[in-house]
Amino acid sequence: MTTFPNRIFSGIQPSGNLHLGNYLGAMRNWVKLQRDYDCIFCMVDQHAITVWQDPAELRRQTRELACGMIAAGIDPEGTLLFNQSQNPDHANLAWVFNCVARMGWLNRMTQFKEKAGKDRENVSVGLFAYPALMAADILVYKATHVPVGEDQKQHLELTRDIAQKFNNDFGREVFPLTEPLIFGTATRVMSLRDGTKKMSKSDPSDYSRINLTDDVDRIAEKFRKAKTDPMELPASVEELKDRPEADNLLGIYAALADLTLEEAVARFAGAQFSKFKGELTDLAVSVLGPIGAEMNRLMADPGHVDAILARGGEKVRALSAPVIAEVYDTVGFLRP
Ligand code: TYM
Repeated sequence: MTTFPNRIFSGIQPSGNLHLGNYLGAMRNWVKLQRDYDCIFCMVDQHAITVWQDPAELRRQTRELACGMIAAGIDPEGTLLFNQSQNPDHANLAWVFNCVARMGWLNRMTQFKEKAGKDRENVSVGLFAYPALMAADILVYKATHVPVGEDQKQHLELTRDIAQKFNNDFGREVFPLTEPLIFGTATRVMSLRDGTKKMSKSDPSDYSRINLTDDVDRIAEKFRKAKTDPMELPASVEELKDRPEADNLLGIYAALADLTLEEAVARFAGAQFSKFKGELTDLAVSVLGPIGAEMNRLMADPGHVDAILARGGEKVRALSAPVIAEVYDTVGFLRP
């Protein structure tokens, strides 16, 4: 069996409203991993257009996201940072994967079912084929590990299925079976308005999420208004079982304070929500405030961010070129 060198890839959609779930579930872990591994982080603008994006907004959001990642601690010198459309090899490989993946596999994707809702006939073909492009993002660099939040687990299982089928069909071990890296205490941050729904960029209520660009007053207001239940905070993790809002807010506190959930629960056992929410706000502001400020500072110089992304794009094209050549030879395409 071939062993593939460790390489980390992850992506994030520049569809606006970069939020606390993205930060705790993904970006914060990327910052830690970049110290020890080869990392590639991508703003997936081609995924973003599977639903309508205003062109000027998409460009602005892509820059804003890049600034957010750098402000959160991604080092653009040591880590490769770029937007997906800068490397056409993602889309090239995605086409081959469209011919490897089966309709039945894609039909089972819960993200597609949620996004398409009842109106399946009217969504873009791209939304359906989305996971094949995601597999291509990862495998065009033969990435071995992908740090994500829990909601992406199913897409990563599909990525393994595609790699395995490709390798089997052609009788060559071209691709690794990539492992998800899902760790930390906030792998699934929930909405502040409903503890059973994921915190998401696309929720119509801005009160459902903390955005990385929210200022102190806005963060305080959102936590103050966050849904709770009428009881005081529990003394044990077991008692959080049927209390999704308390569970979520304590989970956020634990993640921001670098505590385990048990430690956070012990800290607030028997407290009223009002007292806890005050401390949660102070903590969130102390962590997110500097990131938001740095993000705004970087946004003031779009030329600088564009240069970082262009440099990243050039480097990743050099990495994917031999993989695409190998795939084309394997599949039987003539190439110059
Ligand atoms: P996206 O843009 O929705 O989210 C980016 C990252 O943030 C994580 N995340 C969360 N984590 C915890 N709680 C939440 N409420 C929450 N919301 C989002 C996501 O798990 C993700 O890690 N399909 C991907 C983008 C993508 C990608 C890839 C990821 C495209 N190609 C290749 C990894 C590898 C997406 O829509 O993420």
